[in-house]
Amino acid sequence: MSTIALRPYLPTDTRVLADIARDAIEQLAGEDYSDAQRAVWSAGYDDEADFAQRLGSQLTLVATIGGAAVGFASLAGKNHIDLLYVEPRAARRGVATMLVDALEKLAAARGAARLTVDASDTAKPLFDARGYAAERRNSVPLGDEWLANTTMRKDLEKRPAPKGVS
Ligand SMILES: CC(C)(COP(=O)(O)OP(=O)(O)OC[C@H]1O[C@@H](n2cnc3c(N)ncnc32)[C@H](O)[C@@H]1OP(=O)(O)O)[C@@H](O)C(=O)NCCC(=O)NCCS
Repeated sequence: MSTIALRPYLPTDTRVLADIARDAIEQLAGEDYSDAQRAVWSAGYDDEADFAQRLGSQLTLVATIGGAAVGFASLAGKNHIDLLYVEPRAARRGVATMLVDALEKLAAARGAARLTVDASDTAKPLFDARGYAAERRNSVPLGDEWLANTTMRKDLEKRPAPKGVS
């Protein structure tokens, strides 16, 4: 099995990360969200300049296999996991786990005592397994649709930053 590596986001990644987000929503979230819900969700990644601004303003990590981007995750501020998407062909191989693990370690090293995430129904089992506790159900208006997610929270242990990332 090929090795998964992590690196910081570069502005030149923007288009491929938007493709990963749209493909992940379309192909991995189909059991949890309707076609119409997935369409408005993925349309949120169509404005490249807006997406680049969001990625660049957060601590964004890109996961690669053989040098190609296969997923990404971002930390907004000190405490909130904002984005988490994995290329469908690389799903269920631990890519999201590695990304979230790195964000948890970086956040802890920066002094965060806890992390929150508004987890999609697709991602909730992953956060359950990592010890996040559900705090509330949300229904978020997007276009003409309402999308459900769950605000979850995990208390972090204080620890030094992982090597190579700060
Ligand atoms: C959620 C998502 C990021 C998971 O990525 P991934 O790289 O496949 O996740 P991992 O391989 O690290 O999964 C780790 C564990 O999480 C759970 N898990 C992950 N995806 C799951 C799914 N679709 N259904 C049920 N459990 C799942 C499993 O326990 C899995 O362990 P296992 O494969 O040994 O059973 C990916 O499915 C995705 O991009 N989904 C669409 C977009 C989305 O919902 N993003 C989250 C926004 S908060």
